[in-house]
Amino acid sequence: MQTIIYFKLGYIASFLSMKFVTDIISEELKVFEAKFSEAVKSRTPLLDTVMKYIIKRKGKQLRPMFVFLSAKLHGQINESTYRAAALVEMLHTATLVHDDVVDESMERRGFFSINAIWKNKIAVLVGDYLLSKGLLLSTENNDFEQLRFLSDAVRQMSEGELLQIEKTRKLNIDEAVYFEIIKNKTASLLSSACAAGAYSTAANMDIANQMKLFGEKTGIAFQIKDDLFDYGKDDIGKPTGNDIKEKKMTLPLIYTLNNVDIKTRKEIIYIVKNNNTNKQKVDWVIATVQQTGGIKYATKKMMQYRDEALEILYQYPATDTRKALEELVRYTTDRKF
Ligand code: IPE
Ligand code: IPE
Ligand code: MG
Ligand code: MG
Repeated sequence: MQTIIYFKLGYIASFLSMKFVTDIISEELKVFEAKFSEAVKSRTPLLDTVMKYIIKRKGKQLRPMFVFLSAKLHGQINESTYRAAALVEMLHTATLVHDDVVDESMERRGFFSINAIWKNKIAVLVGDYLLSKGLLLSTENNDFEQLRFLSDAVRQMSEGELLQIEKTRKLNIDEAVYFEIIKNKTASLLSSACAAGAYSTAANMDIANQMKLFGEKTGIAFQIKDDLFDYGKDDIGKPTGNDIKEKKMTLPLIYTLNNVDIKTRKEIIYIVKNNNTNKQKVDWVIATVQQTGGIKYATKKMMQYRDEALEILYQYPATDTRKALEELVRYTTDRKF
């Protein structure tokens, strides 16, 4: 319970640092929430219960924010922008529900995950339901360009998660593969959120592609931050230390493995392979990653991607919307959860 209260306080505090964003699209976010709840409703009692649980424990809603601001940067937010935001958040939620099954993770957004309460079978079907509701929202309204952006992201997310599993089994991941994985599993959705948002007001493919690249850079920085959280001890509303437990090699660990002596390297790999649930040994791996500069290196890389995203943004005139988008990009790397 205490954890949950702390998490909620952190939640409110962290949004104080996004004043510009919440000011400029506060109305849109309110309307969005109502539309999102409406769009995922179901007459099937069990689904209805789970959906209510999901809506109550909403996340940071960063992707809808990217949709709205990318749209606003190129024109006036309209109904198709709202549908893009809802579609993106539905797909995101579906992938989180499935991801917690894949990662055997019992906590999400400061509460129990869907699989923790209702078990895997239901979590898989709930994820499918959310995915189908998203697709229906688009097809019923002929948003085919948006659907193209987002369907491609869903494909990439599946490929990214599968590539991760494949590499996890062999424990042979290098930096290039790591970036390939996170580009697919995370950045693809953020980049299509920006593209779909921009397309909803600009109706121009060159502009959408430019924003796609902006979203991709931001999304890569976003996942590096997520992977850094896993090496920390802060309460982020989901488990930390879970990646090593799942034999997931992320950037801090990859850097360390490439920069330590052979003996330490072998020790680390042995623990990740065979002792990944032994707290003491995992803590030693985490400490070694910290001492050998793995965290520092990953942080540096994250900032590089953030800056590349900002470079794209700086090609636009310095309007309030651009300022808000800049704040949102900075939040991606400075956030507390
Ligand atoms: C979590 O995304 C999944 C990753 C891609 C790392 P968020 O951190 O945006 O999740 P919520 O929606 O705010 O819970
Ligand atoms: C991102 O990877 C998950 C998705 C893209 C769905 P993680 O497995 O690191 O995400 P968290 O940490 O569980 O949110
Ligand atoms: Mg996970
Ligand atoms: Mg993670």
